[in-house]
Formats: sequence, structure tokens, C-alpha cells
Amino acid sequence: MCGIVGYIGKNQAAPILLDGLAKLEYRGYDSAGIAVYNNGKIEFAKSKGRLQVLSDKIHGGDDVTGTMGIGHTRWATHGEPSDTNAHPHLSSSGRFAVVHNGIIENYITLKKKLQDKGFEFVSQTDTEVIAHLFEYYYQGDIIDAVIKVINRVEGSYALGVLCSDYPDSFVAVRKASPMIVGLGDNEQFIASDVAAILKHTRDIYYLEDNEIVVLKADGVKIYNTDKEEVEKEVSKVTWDIDAAEKGGYEHFMMKEIEEQPTAIRNTVSPRIQNGKIVLDSVSLTTEDIKNIRKIYIVACGSAYHVGVVAKYIIEKMCRIPVETQLASEFRYCDPIVGSEDLVIAISQSGETADTLAALKEAKNHGSRILSIVNVEGSAIAKASDDVIYTWAGPEIAVATTKAYSTQLSVVYLIATYMADKLGLLTSGEYKKLVDDIQRLPDMVESVLKDKDYIQYLASKFYNCHSIFFIGRNLDYAVALEGSLKLKEISYIHSEAYAAGELKHGTISLIEDGTLVIALATGSELFDKTVSNVKEVKARGAVVMGVTTEKEDMRDVADHIISLPAVSEQLMPSLTVIPLQLFSYYVASNKGCDIDKPKNLAKSVTVE
Ligand code: G6P
Repeated sequence: MCGIVGYIGKNQAAPILLDGLAKLEYRGYDSAGIAVYNNGKIEFAKSKGRLQVLSDKIHGGDDVTGTMGIGHTRWATHGEPSDTNAHPHLSSSGRFAVVHNGIIENYITLKKKLQDKGFEFVSQTDTEVIAHLFEYYYQGDIIDAVIKVINRVEGSYALGVLCSDYPDSFVAVRKASPMIVGLGDNEQFIASDVAAILKHTRDIYYLEDNEIVVLKADGVKIYNTDKEEVEKEVSKVTWDIDAAEKGGYEHFMMKEIEEQPTAIRNTVSPRIQNGKIVLDSVSLTTEDIKNIRKIYIVACGSAYHVGVVAKYIIEKMCRIPVETQLASEFRYCDPIVGSEDLVIAISQSGETADTLAALKEAKNHGSRILSIVNVEGSAIAKASDDVIYTWAGPEIAVATTKAYSTQLSVVYLIATYMADKLGLLTSGEYKKLVDDIQRLPDMVESVLKDKDYIQYLASKFYNCHSIFFIGRNLDYAVALEGSLKLKEISYIHSEAYAAGELKHGTISLIEDGTLVIALATGSELFDKTVSNVKEVKARGAVVMGVTTEKEDMRDVADHIISLPAVSEQLMPSLTVIPLQLFSYYVASNKGCDIDKPKNLAKSVTVE
């Protein structure tokens, strides 16, 4: 969702801001803008649509001189996408320019108050109140003004603020929305995430809520809300710029699909030592695990689908009841959760507003929080008792692939680790699972080799109006993800159904030529799924079977995607791969904007 970049240094700011915003495009946006300090004045340019429109308007930034500025990509929440609603927003006098990511929950009250005092609003956004509040509270000291403004606003914010009274510094502050500070050599940056500034610096400050940053070309100072200077530790980014660039691929999504073997290896290998799973960052003792009454898993989107897989696996292996809930539902359902429960929050970005709120709700009830997160230092990671990082590297395509796969691997590690501590695995079973978890990267690699066949299937079916995914148990959990992937990037209507539930509804939608993708990897339920395939075939469906047990499926399905076999609990990691590839190639055949599907955002920092 909205992206922020800020720069101060010796170089012309506008091209640097545009370049940084381009790196944040993956977050999803519908308009963009920049503001630059130039000769005592703030100049700005904003445009609805792609960043290229803004860039063309100001000739790649050449038209805007000045060496200090802020930039923004907006994903509309309050007010339609338009030039006027795009950020930066300026105060009436033009003294302040503000970019904002987040939501100001009390903006209506504040707007009314400011209008009563004669301030005129030009946009429909919540952000504009911040620009006017700065004007209202400013008495010559920018830090004092920041403190007053953040005392008045409720909600979430990452803010970059230029003031024309300050020719050689600008300020930033955040609460519950992501923002980092990049420390360069006589140039400093703010950004919504590291990818935007990695080509300039690897030295980063991760900001706590309400830390106020003053950036000058030669250094950065950070203050608390009592205006006392705060000392912070510099963090070094270890991953490489290539990881955030396409490296020859047409789309980030395909690059990230192909990166899955490496990503899973990075997640798993350091956590298996001498044949044993070692979860250093988890402080749960065997006693704690024995005392867990129930596990709640909260997440959104694909991370929620990982939670559905986790429910089947953890319940089967650990015999602990697991409830997987959409974070947006959990947070408002007055959950029956308490200190005997473990809450697992799953999130790639670590910033998803609903997941963070669900986690806080559980925390308020005294539960212990374990999170599975990709982005280090993110809000969800910070708010958790224990964090297992997925170490997937930056994921840029909006539709997740490698983050999903690494989250699955962490689930296997946790389930096997807990089942072992609970004494529910023989040493042989434990060894087989650990060995298979270690083999997963190679096995995923071998499934990826089937790309051409999946591409061929996609070329046959990309004109479908509706596609159904069916499966039972873990196959159903993966069907949910396959269906979501297809919808997200190809805009084809799709449904995932538990195969046994078909005859209670969806089967009425099956007609001649409807494509049904049937997942059947579980041996126990294989025959049952084959029966369901026969039911849809009898109603005219064309069936694509995804299976390890080929023969019976071959007799009934029109097309077969065969998978190698691994411990059944781990099959989701293999089953999902052809589904990711199928979605990708279908979307590619349709000419869709694969990395940035319409209306979707990578990091959803609002409710
Ligand atoms: C958005 C993304 C999804 C992601 C979901 C949860 O909807 O488009 O790919 O699964 O948010 O995000 P998180 O960062 O919490 O995993």
C-alpha cells in the first residue's frame, strides 16, 4: 500500500525520488507525487495513474530542481484516485508538504475543527488534515509542531514532512505504519521499505512508534516525544540489490516462483542441525507446549491459506486443537482466547493491519504470540513474544509465491518440533520428516521442471470464464491458494471447494467444458476424490488432475500433472507449484499486469 521515499543530499532529489518510488510500485498504488524544496519554496507534481505518467510530466525529474524532497505512491482509501487526492498535500500557505501512509481515524473531527478556523480543504483525503494541522500548530519549531500534530491524530501514520522555513532539513515520524531511515554518505533517506533505497545505502535505522527523525545531508537525529535525543543502533541490510530486481525475468512473479527452492533452503537449513530441528528464536519449553490448550492461527490472504494447511498438520501431528481464523474476523469476534492458548500470526510483510490488530487482541487476553514473518523488524515481529523469520528475501510481486512456500516450511518445522517434544513421534518418524523437510528444495526444483507442460495447459484454458479447484484435507487447503492465485492475477472467476462439499452447491455450476482442477495427493482420501472427479465428469467437466497416485486418476481425468511423493504432510509445498505456474501462464496469455494486479496491494496497512 502507499509508498514513501524522502531524500536530502547533494544530488537533484526528483530523479532519486522517482527511482525510489519505482521500487515501491509493487506495494500497489493508483497515483503518485513528489514535493521538492527549491529556493525558499516547495514545488510539487502529482498525477493519477502509473508512476510513468508523473515521470513524463516532469521529464524524469529534470524539470524539478532542488536537493531535498519527498515522494509518494498512493493507494486510495479516502477519496477516489485523482491528481488532487494524490500526495503530497500542502498546507494552505504552501509552507508544509506532507506524504502519509496509514489512516487518520479522527480526521472528520479534525477537519471540522480546522474548517471552523478558516482552513480550506481541496482534497477528500484524511491526509490533508495533517498538512493543515502543521500550519495550525507551527510556531517556528518543526519538532514542536510534529509533537503537537501526533498528539492530536489517532490512527496509523508514516509521515514525511517538508517545511519551507527549513532549507536544509526535513522531518519524518511513524506509528503503526512502516518507515525506515537510510544513512548515506552526505545523503540521507526515508522509505517505506529497504528496496527503495538499497542502491544508495545498506545502513538502516528501524524506527519505533513516534520516534521523530530530523534528516540533514550530513546526518540524522532522532527524538522522542519529550524532544530528547534517542540513540539508535544502525542495522545492516545483508541481502543483495539483485534480490529486489528482475534479473532477466519478464516478471518478478516468475523470478520468485523460481527462487522457491533457494528460499525454502534458506528457511530450513539453518534450523536443522545434526538431524534435529533447532528453533533458537522460540522460547516455548516442552512444558509450555504440553500446557497449550488451543492454538489460534490468525492471518490474511495467502498467509491465511498457510494457516489452513497448518490446522490440518498440527492437529494431526500434535493432537492440539487448532483454529485458523481470518485476522479481520478474529479481531472483532470477541475471541475466547486466553493465557493457555498459543496464537500464531502469519504474515509476509509483518505490517498487515488486521493481522497486527488480531495479534494485539490476543495479547490483551494474555495469550502468547509466535509469529511467522518475512520482513525483519516489522510491526508484527516486534509485537510478538517469539518470531520465526522466513528469510525468503524481498518479495516484490503482489501475488505471493515464495513467502507462501517458506511459511509452509516453517509450519512443518513447528509441527514436527512440537510433536517430537510431546513424544508423539517415533525416532524413525521424526527422522523421515526431518529428512523430507530437507529434501523439499530439491523436490520443488524437480516440480518446476514441468513448466513447459503447465504452460501448454494454460494456453488451452486461458479463455475459461470460471475454473473450479477441488480437493480434500490438505489438498483442499492448497486448492484455496491455487484458486486465489488464479483470481488475483488472471481475473478469472474461480472457486475452491472441499471435494466432498461439491454436491451441496457448486456442482450446479458445472456444465459442458467447465475446467475442474482436482488435487489428489493424500492416499487415504484419494479414492474419494476420484469419485468426486467422476461426478463432475458426468456433468461435462474437463478435469485436470494433480496427483502422486497417477493410475486411477489417469482413467478419469483429461490431463494429469504428476507430482513426486514426499511425506504426505509436506505435499502442499509440491502441489502448490503447478498451480502457481498455471495462474502465471494463464495471466500471461491474457496479457495481464502480472506483478501489479488491478486493485490489489502487496502490503495492506489499512483495515
Ligand atoms: C495482500 C497480498 C497477499 C497477502 C496478504 C497478507 O492481500 O496481496 O499476497 O497474502 O496481503 O499479507 P501478509 O504480508 O500479512 O502476508
